Amino acid sequence: MKGVLITFEGIDGCGKSTQAERLVEALRRRGETVVHTREPGGTELGQRIRHLFLHLQGLDIDPTTEALLMAADRADHVRRVIAPALAQGAIIVCERFADSMIAYQGYGGELPLDALHALNALATGGLEPDVTFLLDVDPSLAFERRGRPADRIEGKDQGFYHKVRQGYLALQKQNPQRIILLDGALPIEVVHQEILSELARREILSAQGGSGR
Ligand code: TMP
Repeated sequence: MKGVLITFEGIDGCGKSTQAERLVEALRRRGETVVHTREPGGTELGQRIRHLFLHLQGLDIDPTTEALLMAADRADHVRRVIAPALAQGAIIVCERFADSMIAYQGYGGELPLDALHALNALATGGLEPDVTFLLDVDPSLAFERRGRPADRIEGKDQGFYHKVRQGYLALQKQNPQRIILLDGALPIEVVHQEILSELARREILSAQGGSGR
């Protein structure tokens, strides 16, 4: 049985980790085999890349180098975690995937989109999520929500985040079947229920609970 790849996307502070956790809990309660993972940092190598990418003090990394680091993380993650879990029939809930690179390095960092799509294709081997939940919020709300000190990317200004947000919205318009747009300003439970309904509509879950596959 082939598994399912569900990804969560949005700007920092959009609430995607909260929603991913809620979904993972709900799926496990229904008896599903679930792998909860994220990019960057879903493998041992990825954790080191994540540290380099986000937490080295005073490091200036240009968008091209960022994209290459993220592609390395993604290639390792797909081969070691995502593809094997899919082959075993698991539901994978992944926080961020290839769309993040288009939004952050493409729209935010202003790199050519066709080059980034090619890099993503190389890293993923052509694998695409079955469904992606995009939590859309205004950058000012996202800034307010962040409780901890900013990492290297979060230290960028709101202008950067407006570009990233527009990038995500453009991706959603280009892929309306795959990418589901959700209002990240709504209460957590309301968004969670919308996610469960969408998965039921796609027969990934049955409306009564349990797998619809
Ligand atoms: P997060 O795991 O807390 O969302 O942080 C990951 C950060 O890395 C976030 O600021 C988005 C950024 N990022 C990119 O810029 N490009 C990428 O391809 C990915 C996966 C993440």
